[in-house]
Amino acid sequence: MRLENIKTIAVLGAGIMGHGIAQTFLMSGFPVRLFDLKESILATARAHIGKNLELFQDMGLLEEPAIGPALKNLSTTTDLRDAVQGSDFIVEAAPENLALKQNLFQQVESFCREDAIIASNTSSLTLTDIGARVKKKERLVTTHWFNPPHIVPTVEVVKGEKTSDETVDTTVALLDRIKKLPVKINLELPGFLVNRVQVAMAREILDLYEKGVASAADIDKAIKGSIGFRLASIGMFLTMDLAGLDIWLKVCENLAPRIQSSTEPPKILQELVSQGRYGIKSGRGFYDYTLDFSKGELDEAVRKRDTEFLKRLKDLYWDN
Ligand SMILES: NC(=O)c1ccc[n+]([C@@H]2O[C@H](COP(=O)([O-])OP(=O)(O)OC[C@H]3O[C@@H](n4cnc5c(N)ncnc54)[C@H](O)[C@@H]3O)[C@@H](O)[C@H]2O)c1
Repeated sequence: MRLENIKTIAVLGAGIMGHGIAQTFLMSGFPVRLFDLKESILATARAHIGKNLELFQDMGLLEEPAIGPALKNLSTTTDLRDAVQGSDFIVEAAPENLALKQNLFQQVESFCREDAIIASNTSSLTLTDIGARVKKKERLVTTHWFNPPHIVPTVEVVKGEKTSDETVDTTVALLDRIKKLPVKINLELPGFLVNRVQVAMAREILDLYEKGVASAADIDKAIKGSIGFRLASIGMFLTMDLAGLDIWLKVCENLAPRIQSSTEPPKILQELVSQGRYGIKSGRGFYDYTLDFSKGELDEAVRKRDTEFLKRLKDLYWDN
């Protein structure tokens, strides 16, 4: 399948990731068929997409008449065959369950056109396992989006054992076309690339917090205003090159043996979870939240986060 032949997209699963992935394709003019198990889930997804599009427009990231045409291009269905037959690029954002995804991929292949690309948004499973029952494995690919998917630019594009170069190249070109930042991942390691880095950083940050080096708010402040600020602008390798690799070698010699290297899950997370402190959804995590979900205050908190993200998106990526 080549980029110029991709006309219609199917997104399977309309939850947190699926509705944002659908929105991203819609914003670039692609017709999207969104599938989920119940009409009520699809109606919620459509309402969320509408609200998100309004926020993009309010922030100057969408032209005025774009919302109507985008929503017109969205069709929803609870019939899998209807979603995938005639679709050229199919992306699955169903629950992270191997048997469910294997079954879904097998069904999709039986309904879709022979050369359609079938992508998974899995965060922790391998394409080789998910696609075990698919006959034409060269058209399978992992596209790992980050939450919120309609805003965070990077999408990891991961090859399975049998994925063809053409499938990878077309997927990368398609993601470029919809203004994402696709990154080819050559080895299918657990956690791919970004989540491995994120977990390494979280391990150290949680350890510093447990040791009482600073409060959660101060650690957030320190990271946002230093490495967060730099990394969002120039990345890691340019940061190191600009500082000097000789200096980085010295810093690593001094610190590498002294930082956290445990292979256990961080104790502080185990403790907080055992106390029912799950974060915003339970009212308390590292911070306290007094949100009335029945008054839509959680949606309001998400909108506030997205507004912050959209300011950065505009500055760093949108018009570049
Ligand atoms: N949430 C994240 O931050 C995040 C980030 C990256 C990747 N992912 C991955 O994306 C996928 C979806 O995660 P999510 O957070 O959107 O989950 P979610 O629970 O919000 O949404 C999943 C949706 O899939 C639907 N579904 C259930 N069975 C299905 C089936 N057989 N076929 C199609 N849809 C079905 C559910 O009704 C639900 O609406 C998972 O593989 C997850 O690991 C999630």
